[in-house]
Amino acid sequence: MEFSTQTSASLHQLKTAALAVGVYTGGALSPAAETIDRASNGAVSAALKAEFKAKAGSHLALHNLPGVSAARVILVGLGAQDAYAASVHANAEEAFARYCVGASLAEGVSTLAAIDCPDATLRARARSAACAAGLSVYRYTATLGKEKDALPKLKKFTVWVPRAQATQAQAGLREGRAIANGMNLTRELGDLPPNVCTPTYLGNTAKKLAKEFKSLKAEVLNAKQIEALKMGSFLSVARGSYEPPAFIVLRHAAAGGKAASKGDKGPIVLVGKGITFDSGGISIKPAANMDEMKYDMCGAASVLGTLRAIAELELGREVIGLIPACENLPSGRANKPGDVVTSMSGQTIEILNTDAEGRLVLCDALTYAERFKPAAVIDIATLTGACVVALGHVNSGLFSKNDELADSLLKAGLEAHDTAWRMPLDDAYQEQLHSNFADMANIGGMPAGSVTAACFLSRFTKNYPWAHLDIAGTAWRGGKDKGASGRPVPLLVHYLLAQAGKPGA
Ligand code: BES
Ligand code: MN
Ligand code: ZN
Repeated sequence: MEFSTQTSASLHQLKTAALAVGVYTGGALSPAAETIDRASNGAVSAALKAEFKAKAGSHLALHNLPGVSAARVILVGLGAQDAYAASVHANAEEAFARYCVGASLAEGVSTLAAIDCPDATLRARARSAACAAGLSVYRYTATLGKEKDALPKLKKFTVWVPRAQATQAQAGLREGRAIANGMNLTRELGDLPPNVCTPTYLGNTAKKLAKEFKSLKAEVLNAKQIEALKMGSFLSVARGSYEPPAFIVLRHAAAGGKAASKGDKGPIVLVGKGITFDSGGISIKPAANMDEMKYDMCGAASVLGTLRAIAELELGREVIGLIPACENLPSGRANKPGDVVTSMSGQTIEILNTDAEGRLVLCDALTYAERFKPAAVIDIATLTGACVVALGHVNSGLFSKNDELADSLLKAGLEAHDTAWRMPLDDAYQEQLHSNFADMANIGGMPAGSVTAACFLSRFTKNYPWAHLDIAGTAWRGGKDKGASGRPVPLLVHYLLAQAGKPGA
């Protein structure tokens, strides 16, 4: 999709299929709505009086207004004026983009980003406008038969802004487009069925990205190479399936052609859980909704989506994505409860539940990360059902002992409208992982299940600042609109932009 800015002073003469203007409950108009109201002899105020309550996220299309060149003016409800905020703006842009797609329009102009907002700069508002528009055109089609719905026609999205701020708006649009493209890749990978999106498929996706973006280099290690690295924990999970595992290393070199010098901070490493199907293994899951365990690679998909976004943005900071990818299936070669395996770190693990496999593949990737002398390591995983119980589908769970890292991630989440909530990681929980037969058990019992999972991972992260994002509740939506959400790509990209010295909100 193409994104552009429009700065014409005579908004009513702008030729477009759809022009979005914001209105508040109680009848107050945004400056753009006022301009249209004046040009159309009060058509906007009349609509507000007669029928439109301007609830946040609602809209009303007005066709062929007199004195207005746009084919339609879309009134977008912004709720109460004194409660207007960045998140209301983001939802309003989404409502307008959805309207455009629903009406099969090829282009639209939004004036919503021009509205001042207490917690977002114009650049940030342009960013979320472009992101909303970019997301609105995603459709899963890969495995649909002939009876496909018509694909979205929206090709061009324009934001109307004051002339003096066009440059900031363009920077925001570029960021928003990259985030949406990254999220749409993440969504597609999540939505693909597990017989298509295999570990090999994830590896090929990384290689394809490396072909497309010159800052990216991909390396995909096979079972033999993984074995040579002594990743005994990861391999113990992979062994249960015929599908070959893959350990994916996708590196983004800092833009600007600067060679790393001594004073430079190390790279930021992102580790994504890549279980392309989680049956639970011998500790098999119940049949109901087991299909949803195709989404158990959404951590991996968010790493690929994030790397795609920062490559498109030519981020000036080195970032490395690591993905341990395999299936978790029961078989004659699968892990059994009671098995003890040796991780790459040398620590031994008693597997008491083969369904706690995410931590078994992640721990070896976290050890592998040490070789990069990272400034920070963040792992992203659909790790525990307990996290869904604790936080639902609103916040991702954030676990870290490093306050600075945790605060940066929380802030990035707020800016990106992709929030996380910090969870505890006290040493006292570590006791629950005690084993009489190994250095640790892979489960800690019922209490605080998402915390003990994080505690397990923490034992492999002693040599760098580390944070863990449990996205079990946020990576996909169930119900009628079932599908991958693309989260937490926005949070991660905002965090990385901040680390590369780019402005945030
Ligand atoms: N992939 C699941 C976690 C999950 C469950 C994500 C439901 C999203 C929705 C993970 O591998 C798992 O099975 N975790 C177990 C851990 C338990 C055995 C300690 C769980 O949460 O039940
Ligand atoms: Mn599992
Ligand atoms: Zn899993």
